Amino acid sequence: MSRILGIETSCDETGVAVIEDGRRMIVNLVASQVDIHARFGGVVPEIASRQHTHCIGQLTREALAEAGDRPDAVAVTQGPGLMGSLLVGVNFAKALAYAWRVPLVPVHHIEGHIFSAFLGQDPPDFPFLALVVSGGHTCLIDSPRPHEYIVLGATRDDAIGECFDKVARLLGLSYPGGPSIQKEAEGGDPLAYDFPRGLAKSDTLEFSYSGLKTAALYAWRKGGVNVQDLAASFQHAAVDTLLIKTRIALAQTRARRLVLAGGVAANRLLRDRLRAELDVDLFMPPLSLCVDNGAMIAAAGHSRWLHGGAGSMRVTPFPNMPLPSCR
Ligand code: KG4
Ligand code: ZN
Repeated sequence: MSRILGIETSCDETGVAVIEDGRRMIVNLVASQVDIHARFGGVVPEIASRQHTHCIGQLTREALAEAGDRPDAVAVTQGPGLMGSLLVGVNFAKALAYAWRVPLVPVHHIEGHIFSAFLGQDPPDFPFLALVVSGGHTCLIDSPRPHEYIVLGATRDDAIGECFDKVARLLGLSYPGGPSIQKEAEGGDPLAYDFPRGLAKSDTLEFSYSGLKTAALYAWRKGGVNVQDLAASFQHAAVDTLLIKTRIALAQTRARRLVLAGGVAANRLLRDRLRAELDVDLFMPPLSLCVDNGAMIAAAGHSRWLHGGAGSMRVTPFPNMPLPSCR
């Protein structure tokens, strides 16, 4: 039996968790900064790093008190993310690993999101196709074996979550935009506006969300907009694009398993449509583990540790970190 502490500070959530044997969540605490950044309509990097510094000590004390035993290893998000925010988590994790004389395991943030699906009731086996949709990423990844990733396609411009956030801001909805648009869309007509599905006519597995964002802007500028209809039509087009590209990737790779991960994986329409429309075994993290958290970093870190991936004390933050073992 082994326990690993996971620390996540890549953006605007401070996450600290303890996981047992890679699967069992002992404690998972998240201090969200959403309310602090909301009045700016997006994350302010300097405020984010100061806020991580402010709460990481107390959050870790609480997590350790709840977990009881001292962890056997420390996993931390090394990148990608905001430099100042990553610095706080990496240095804090280093200090703990040094003081406790336990291994320090650096984790890629996207790998963490993928591993959030392993914390559900029914964890996936390899190989699988992963659809990662967050505020910073939109990509389809083939994972034939643990810790091996082949990026089949990513976004050429905006990430889908970023697009939700920008369109929500345009409509005067609160940050983060994803949940606000989802809520507003409930009462709207998804066919009221015929918005573009980026790169839908091509077989590429790349995504493009800037056209959808611009179309929403032009519709808004015309005036007389029903916000609920616009939100519903936008959400419908954004999710449709994911379905179109995922279908192509499943056909190309002949994958039988699909892992959905990232903040946008919390979107109800996306979850419902993937479940209803794709003939594949679908693995989704519980809603509470879709947005950034320490548990997913601990789960990925535990597996990396088992596969010999513990790092040295020289680990430094890597804001543009590429996915490891990426071909
Ligand atoms: O994974 P995450 O917490 O942070 C990044 O790694 O980027 O994802 C945050 C993103 C935000 O853009 C937020 O608007 C989006 O996830 N999001 C959603 C929903 N909940 C969060 N997007 C659509 N529908 C949701 N229910
Ligand atoms: Zn994330």
